[in-house]
Amino acid sequence: MINLEKISGLPIELTDDYHLKFNPPLTDREPTIVRKFSELMPVLMEQGLKPDYEDRYFVYRAISLPEDEAKVKKYHLTYDVTILPPGKLGAEFNKTVGHYHANIPGKNIAHPEIYEVLNGRALFVLQKMDAEFRKVISVLVIEADRGQKVVYPPNYGHVIYNIGPDPVVTANWCSTNYKALYEPVAQLHGLAYFVTASPHQPFDLAANRNYGEIPAARMFTNKFMSGFSIVATNRPMYIEGMLHPDELEFLSNPEKYAVELSSISS
Ligand SMILES: [Fe+2]
Repeated sequence: MINLEKISGLPIELTDDYHLKFNPPLTDREPTIVRKFSELMPVLMEQGLKPDYEDRYFVYRAISLPEDEAKVKKYHLTYDVTILPPGKLGAEFNKTVGHYHANIPGKNIAHPEIYEVLNGRALFVLQKMDAEFRKVISVLVIEADRGQKVVYPPNYGHVIYNIGPDPVVTANWCSTNYKALYEPVAQLHGLAYFVTASPHQPFDLAANRNYGEIPAARMFTNKFMSGFSIVATNRPMYIEGMLHPDELEFLSNPEKYAVELSSISS
């Protein structure tokens, strides 16, 4: 059992079978999503694998303290937790399926997202394609440890890898109005780069041959995102977001924060 209360600001613990235990005043519950190996198969680098375990990761959506429920609703926010156990998928590290977000109706921009690592060592792979999902414009690879926060710029597809020996637990704030697009990732069998184990370094990147020409991946740490107040603070993202919900306005109204958001990927 790993107590996540101090790091997350919520009375939650990680159980040995990679579930969350919700302590009062939260109500214990089952995960919203249990992602199976069969659902990951279309996006794996290697086909025909026999998994070492079936349930690859767990997502709990819409977590909030009772006193924050009205505020979360008012600002159209959701705070979710994802648990990604350690392990391999052939040469690849265990990962999430990945998706893009659809453009906000009537606009040319999708909802961004913000993540915080609550446990383990995560690697975030983010990529932007042209509007038809034919050509990759940019790939960002961001390594983040416990306590670090990562902003996903608008229109970047995203996959999380667990590149360490410990379970990765991430939290995210996102607008409840976002719509996930899984097809553009599935049709090319993953993002443009797969993250694999390496004998000499923490990880390697392997190009996905289902893509044409792809740009070099650019490596970042979370430090370059410190222009966002919620990233710069040492407070847990849940606490900071509820104390200062205006710091999360960029999630619902990304056009207003176009300069800050574009600085992440430029
Ligand atoms: Fe997302």
